[in-house]
Amino acid sequence: MTADFRHFYQKTWAERTDIVAQQAHLTPAEQALFKQYYLEQHHEIIENYLTDYPLPMGLAVNFVVDGVNRIIPMVTEEPSVIAAASNGAKIVKRAGGFTTTLNQREMIGQIVLEHLADPEQTATIIEQHAAALLDVADAAHPSLKKRGGGARSLRTRVLGQGYLSIDLFVDVQAAMGANMLNSMLEAVAKSIGVMTKTDALMSILSNYATASLVKAECDIPVGLLQAGRYSGELVAQKMASASTVAQLDPYRATTHNKGIMNGIDALAIASGNDWRALESGAHAYAAKDGQYRGMSKWTTDGTTLHGELELPLPVGIVGGSIKINELAQLNQRLLGIQTAGDLERIMIAVGLAQNLAALRALVTTGIQQGHMHLQLKSLAMAAGATAAELPKILQQLELAPQQDLATTQRLIADMRQIKEETDD
Ligand code: HMG
Repeated sequence: MTADFRHFYQKTWAERTDIVAQQAHLTPAEQALFKQYYLEQHHEIIENYLTDYPLPMGLAVNFVVDGVNRIIPMVTEEPSVIAAASNGAKIVKRAGGFTTTLNQREMIGQIVLEHLADPEQTATIIEQHAAALLDVADAAHPSLKKRGGGARSLRTRVLGQGYLSIDLFVDVQAAMGANMLNSMLEAVAKSIGVMTKTDALMSILSNYATASLVKAECDIPVGLLQAGRYSGELVAQKMASASTVAQLDPYRATTHNKGIMNGIDALAIASGNDWRALESGAHAYAAKDGQYRGMSKWTTDGTTLHGELELPLPVGIVGGSIKINELAQLNQRLLGIQTAGDLERIMIAVGLAQNLAALRALVTTGIQQGHMHLQLKSLAMAAGATAAELPKILQQLELAPQQDLATTQRLIADMRQIKEETDD
């Protein structure tokens, strides 16, 4: 029988979980999970709330960013990400740490007009009234101006086919600023409607935050990169080659960039930021010249490996869900940050550290040695190993010719059988 989901959002939590249990034929143990991870206040954050979904949080260490030692809270379900970030940061720490550059921190929002007979002429009218429109924007959110922020500039872009984008640049101070910006845009759109007799098609912030770019760089003496039988100089050359391949080939660039976002997303989640916004902006920036490319670049002169990574990272330290997420606030204290800019600088360094560790592993031992070694714990747990069985199963898995679920399940079964026989 299909359960009745009409007005599901108006039901109490108990009613909702009953309906879901009925629909999916849940066992009492499965239903108990709703209760186990339930947090009363999260009814206020999302709709149709059932329960929380826990993700592990750990700490990456060894970071020195602009001369300051930092510890990095990271939320991720993927083994080896935190180890790799700490590993990359340790190498860079020995080389003096990361340096970062942050010149501007403004959010961009768009008002799009359509069906324009002469978009260039409309653009000219709007630009002539730019100062008045900036005042309208500020009036829609006066508290922002009081805090030193506010609307900074306006530009127009003719998109073709009768469309025009009016881009508003706003200093949103410590917030990511999506809601502030959207209110300002809607107010400006109304004024533009009166001015041009055209209703806007839409008014919304852009996640392509090209006015919030931040860059991390590092210079590593090649000797620090030596790995097993690979000299530091060879590792540096191979990493530079790996970087070139990521510039040339979108297939490789996508994986290269996924590795960078492993770190950036983990810190974005830990700091209560919208990682989907950062993801979409970062990937758009990776395709800024028309081809999707690696986000970072590594070059070597034979003595030093130079790494750099620049991305739009419009993060906030207030607003959104941060105020109601005690762990996001605690994580700000762990990070030791005072401003949103501090968080951007650390986040971009985390991306570069993550990429350094992944590329070094890829061009030397291969990713499996380090990554799989740490992945084995998850594999053993997925195969049903108890905490007490883990150490022995891990030992056996390290030596097993195949490290897959079936092998692990067989090892656990064998171990239990031997234990039963010896107990008898
Ligand atoms: P290792 O050589 O065995 O490490 O590396 P080490 O013993 O020399 O340790 C160096 C430092 O790494 C340590 O310093 C720790 O900070 C850290 P210490 O504290 O000893 O002074 N570290 C650890 N931290 C926590 N737990 C651990 C641990 N081990 C070392 N168990 C390591 C081992 C896994 C770090 C290395 O092989 C590595 O960095 N591999 C890269 C792994 C990686 O990139 N994982 C991400 C998932 S794979 C992926 O999704 C991205 C990818 O596809 C991207 C791409 O293709 O570009 C690869």
